[in-house]
Amino acid sequence: MSTSTYVASVMSRAVRLQMARPASRQFRQLSRCLSTISATKHPSQTESYFRNNVRLPLDEAQTMNPDLYSDATVYEIEKKAIWETTWVCVGTTTEYEKNSAGTAKVGDHSILLTRAKDGLMRAFENVCRHRGNQLHPDSEPICAKKTVVCKYHRWCYSLDGRLLAAPLMTSSEGGKKAEKRIAEIEAQIRDTGLTEEEIIALDKDKMLKPSAIASSIAKKFDKAEYSLFPIRCETLGHMIFVNIDGNAPPLNEYLGCVPKQIQEHCEILRDETQVFLAGSKTYDSKCNWKLLSENFMEYYHLPSVHPSLTLVSSVDNHVRTQGPGYNTSFVTSPLTSGGTPLDPGAAPHFPNLSAYNNQTAWFHYIFPNVFYFCLPHSFFMVRLDPQSPEHTIEHATLVMHKSTLDMEGYEGKVRDIFNFYDETNLEDIEICESVQRGVKATGYKGGRFSFRFEETIHRFQNMYADLMIGLRRIPEGDETKLPGSGYSCS
Ligand code: FES
Ligand SMILES: [Fe+2]
Repeated sequence: MSTSTYVASVMSRAVRLQMARPASRQFRQLSRCLSTISATKHPSQTESYFRNNVRLPLDEAQTMNPDLYSDATVYEIEKKAIWETTWVCVGTTTEYEKNSAGTAKVGDHSILLTRAKDGLMRAFENVCRHRGNQLHPDSEPICAKKTVVCKYHRWCYSLDGRLLAAPLMTSSEGGKKAEKRIAEIEAQIRDTGLTEEEIIALDKDKMLKPSAIASSIAKKFDKAEYSLFPIRCETLGHMIFVNIDGNAPPLNEYLGCVPKQIQEHCEILRDETQVFLAGSKTYDSKCNWKLLSENFMEYYHLPSVHPSLTLVSSVDNHVRTQGPGYNTSFVTSPLTSGGTPLDPGAAPHFPNLSAYNNQTAWFHYIFPNVFYFCLPHSFFMVRLDPQSPEHTIEHATLVMHKSTLDMEGYEGKVRDIFNFYDETNLEDIEICESVQRGVKATGYKGGRFSFRFEETIHRFQNMYADLMIGLRRIPEGDETKLPGSGYSCS
């Protein structure tokens, strides 16, 4: 090949490459741009997405778009829009002895929960301040401990989050001393003209060996600046809540009417000398967390799904008690004795309840992940822990007063109470899994609300819509308007 032919062939190859490169770059840029658009603007983040369904007044409204219950992009958006912005329940103080620690997952965040000997619950990001090791493995249960020691290089933290020890690293004070000694050695080397090795050779006791000193210090290292990253953590009764982004209203304001309605119960539930964990269970449910939430807050399904529950808590005895806050609220009053393990006389009541509370069950759903049956003798709570769009783990706990332990044959009676709640919960999971399968039908675009029974779900879906479009407002209660969902949307 002549030189000119060779040059021409190289040139044409270069031209081909030049032409190919911009095309592939353009393609990459375009696809990046498209994926950014779809990642930042899902329809569920726009008001118009909800306008023709849940934003309408209750008697005209349609239930939410069914794809919200299975779409993977929606699930990812919820992690930021819902789980980071709200107060999320992460457990109960009855599970945490003093001097213990455990973890909980909120969205993509692993939270370290500790209870020190002062009895206070605290939450931190589950990460060591050294090189970022996870401190308490997500898979490990709650365990007794007085400090949290990182398994990587053994940095040690107190349960209130302070860094207590960083092995083989001096504190800033020690560091300054060591730095001073190194400076002295360096001056000595300069003044004498000896090499570092010659000085070390003369230093029989090795006290002046610079590398020995240098290996133990980190300049400007102050343990006080390396405490664990705190996360807002507050309690109501025995329920523990965290808020990841730190911008939610104070818990009491967020909960609205709830703390007042169960104030008497909370006084007792927060005191571990008075109550005990009578049972707990984890449920694996193949459905979206919102279906489980919605199912709890309506009693329309009681006669069909839980005929035995209506013996103690009949549909006609349910009364709506909706005040403000991120909750739905109703009571059954008076409770009836229908021969079930939940009958009001089945176990000792929490002490100091009013006459009204001695014959009443409160049913609250606290947005986004906890609901409970608060009876005079027991508090059965379910906490939702979403795993994927169509998979939610439920953590259930039953808490009772310690005087129950004095009942003759108390173990059997407590077991009966737990089993009753357990059966009810299993019935709920079964129907929710069936709904999960159903809402995926192509023809289904949402249904209608029962005005009498499902104003709670209308309220829930409007709270959800608010947060998905970035609107933060405390939902109003029914006392400010005609009974409805607390939402009168135009
Ligand atoms: S990463 Fe925790 S001590 Fe090193
Ligand atoms: Fe139910």
